[in-house]
Amino acid sequence: MKVGDQHFRTIWLKAGDECVVQLIDQRFLPHRFVIEDVSTVEQMVTAIREMHIRGAGLIGASAGYGMYLAAIKARSAGTGFDPDLANAAAQLKAARPTAVNLSWAVERVRAGLAVKQTLAVQDKVKLALRIAKQIADEDAEHCRMIGQHGLKLIQQMAQKKAGRPVNVLTHCNAGWLAFVDYGSATAPIYAAHDSGLPVHVWVAETRPRNQGSKLTAWELGEHGVPHTVIADSAGGHLMQHGEVDLVIVGTDRTTYTGDVANKIGTYLKALAAKDNHVPFYVALPSSSFDWKIRDGLKEIPIEERGTEEVKHADGWLEGRQVEVCLTPDGSPAANYGFDVTPRHLVTGLITERGVCEANEKSIRALFPEHAS
Ligand code: MRU
Repeated sequence: MKVGDQHFRTIWLKAGDECVVQLIDQRFLPHRFVIEDVSTVEQMVTAIREMHIRGAGLIGASAGYGMYLAAIKARSAGTGFDPDLANAAAQLKAARPTAVNLSWAVERVRAGLAVKQTLAVQDKVKLALRIAKQIADEDAEHCRMIGQHGLKLIQQMAQKKAGRPVNVLTHCNAGWLAFVDYGSATAPIYAAHDSGLPVHVWVAETRPRNQGSKLTAWELGEHGVPHTVIADSAGGHLMQHGEVDLVIVGTDRTTYTGDVANKIGTYLKALAAKDNHVPFYVALPSSSFDWKIRDGLKEIPIEERGTEEVKHADGWLEGRQVEVCLTPDGSPAANYGFDVTPRHLVTGLITERGVCEANEKSIRALFPEHAS
């Protein structure tokens, strides 16, 4: 996607130095555009855990490159290639618990290497790089396809609105910053905007880390998409007054039965959407399906992060980033990162293969290779 006049992905290999991965450090957006060099798996683990990068697809792509960096180090460490890689895989997987793309990508690199046991170590490193690049390229392509399938939903809505803008509400950032390119929830929006359809986005701020007001608003602005930032709690009010035509959100993990884990606050928006007959769609590449979990509420691990994220807020003041305390010093806080929206509240899932209902039969029909 574009930043100014330049096309960027969120992660790439440094030009002229194949041992360094570069990524956009999202902690400084929207005020500063910072690129970070990552050259060890430990640095990649930190980048994931401390949320220099975040969002399900990008976490997966970063994990793929993290495995590649681990392979480079294992090549010369002398402690054993396979044990070193197993150790790196464990570190990466422990970085954040909810987005299933993380373990999916780590296991994809490991599985690719496992079937080529007899390769020389040097060639294993090359193979790890090839798989990491494939994961990243596929993520971008799948998001592009999600855009094409989701576009039809916006087109249908646009017909009903007879020239008035289609109002889409989204939560958190499931935009291109959360993936390698395009985004999941935002891909249909970008496709609609680029095709000339009038579209306007309600951007929920997404406390406590404000991925909506900081990241989604910035992305949409860079692309020229009309949008309005709202407090998280304003979504229901807007729906009651007919100001939301459809909701599109992303997901960090969706069960094969259609339960959706996404950023905390998503569930409340789904409830409000149901009460107001507003279609509630979840956009995801297939890498965000968990094919092992049936009951999202009981089985999806929900990340709990540091309470300072709730008690404090940061922003930009006179050219520098400042942090302020919002609560009484002594008040305890809790910081649940995600919630689960049960399948009965989800109108449909927008995937790279098309739109399906949020139930096992419909999901498996679209992905028959996961049929059992
Ligand atoms: O904690 P984050 O920022 O990594 O959370 C991920 C998200 O941005 C959202 O939950 C998003 O809607 C799904 S990730 C594509």
